[in-house]
Amino acid sequence: MSQNQFGPKVHVMDHPLVAHKLTIMRDKNTSVKDFRELVSEVGMFITYEAMRDLPLTTKEVETPLCKAMLPTLAGKKIAVVPILRAGLGLVDGVLRMMPSARVGHIGMYRDEETLEPHVYFCKMPKDIAEREVMIVDPMLATGGSADAAISEMEKRGCTNIKLMVLVAAPVGIQLIEKNHPNVEIYCGAVDECLNEHGYIVPGLGDAGDRIFGTK
Ligand code: PRP
Ligand code: URA
Repeated sequence: MSQNQFGPKVHVMDHPLVAHKLTIMRDKNTSVKDFRELVSEVGMFITYEAMRDLPLTTKEVETPLCKAMLPTLAGKKIAVVPILRAGLGLVDGVLRMMPSARVGHIGMYRDEETLEPHVYFCKMPKDIAEREVMIVDPMLATGGSADAAISEMEKRGCTNIKLMVLVAAPVGIQLIEKNHPNVEIYCGAVDECLNEHGYIVPGLGDAGDRIFGTK
């Protein structure tokens, strides 16, 4: 994770594999199949970093040589929450790292004129308030969608929330830092700016369309 111009809750990947894979994703000629696979792979790498603070306990294991007390995950309760629809592309990568995590879904779309986010669906595990929540979405642009998704989780009593995105715009990060100062933000890359349509530049285009092949 690199030093960056944001606050201490913002973590930006500085791994060459992530940079390389994101560059392939940014190429407009990358196929839907490759794009989808790369979303999942980069999601897996960011999850790996985001889970650095998972608590460990020890258990006794008998190796071929002796008995030893060895580290094992303390079994923290985690939920991954994709923002529909593009966030769905990240779920598989997160679950490859944390196979026992529960999955909640939050449906969100942006009004094409105002760019305002609207929640149209929310289905969470019953014990969501007790879980560490990892909201996932490939893009953090204006930050409106993530802001609304985090507020929705806070309404449900969640206090331990992380946000994982592949590409972020500075303005989106700043919005989340301002409105949700306790949320840890993990980004694959931070790009320059938004264009007049609210797209991240250079970005990778419409992530949902590229994952699902809808354009
Ligand atoms: C995209 C993206 C984020 C949102 C980011 O979703 O996946 O959810 O835009 O933009 P924001 O930070 O300005 O809110 P979109 O609304 O295009 O829906 P989709 O996932 O169905 O493609
Ligand atoms: N949503 C996307 O899918 N891409 C962007 O660049 C901005 C919002």
